[in-house]
Amino acid sequence: MKRLKLAVFISGRGSNLQALIDAASDPIYPAEIALVISNRADAAGLVRAAAAGIPRLAIEETDRAAFAGIADRALHKAGVGLIALAGFMRLLDTEFVVAWRDRMVNIHPSLLPAFPGLRAQRQALAAGVKFSGCTVHFVRPEVDTGPIIAQAVVPVADDDNEVRLADRILAAEHRLYPLAIRLYAEGRLRLDGNRVRISGGYSTDFVALNPSEALT
Ligand code: GRF
Repeated sequence: MKRLKLAVFISGRGSNLQALIDAASDPIYPAEIALVISNRADAAGLVRAAAAGIPRLAIEETDRAAFAGIADRALHKAGVGLIALAGFMRLLDTEFVVAWRDRMVNIHPSLLPAFPGLRAQRQALAAGVKFSGCTVHFVRPEVDTGPIIAQAVVPVADDDNEVRLADRILAAEHRLYPLAIRLYAEGRLRLDGNRVRISGGYSTDFVALNPSEALT
């Protein structure tokens, strides 16, 4: 089996990177991480990549076009087929985003299109929603937009604060991101306008209610 070569872009902790490293450590997972790029040399995620023996590159260039040029060369040299943004906190050059259209995905800690941008969990609490979650989507030039590949729903508890909600969403992120990338690598995603169709069947035979007592 030829595995898809994945590049993961990070800026910090790298827990989603770790989830992808763990998934890809299974030889039947259809993607392998060929390169980790960080815009910060001190990102903790780079230590995770090093521990897994994955090539990594810190690009501390602040000029957007220059950053994109360096990244693009490294990506092509490594034969990368898909970029996964995972807690990457810098805006990317528009030309770069256009060049990698439909070959770059992102994970965001809300049910997009609700709560794009920074501190999505705090936005969810402020809005009083009973569910939030996370979204994996194809990247388009406007931040946190683009066709949605997969979402996971997470209940918001009455006594949640930002940290508790973020932790609960993060646990879902760690399951959702490897799944979404697997579907991509297996060639099961097809873009139909703004919708992503998934072939091969998947279950939708559930409803989610929160608070769950409403079920009884
Ligand atoms: C995650 O919540 C992700 O959804 C958001 O940034 C956070 C990154 O966390 N884009 P980590 O670096 O993967 O631990």
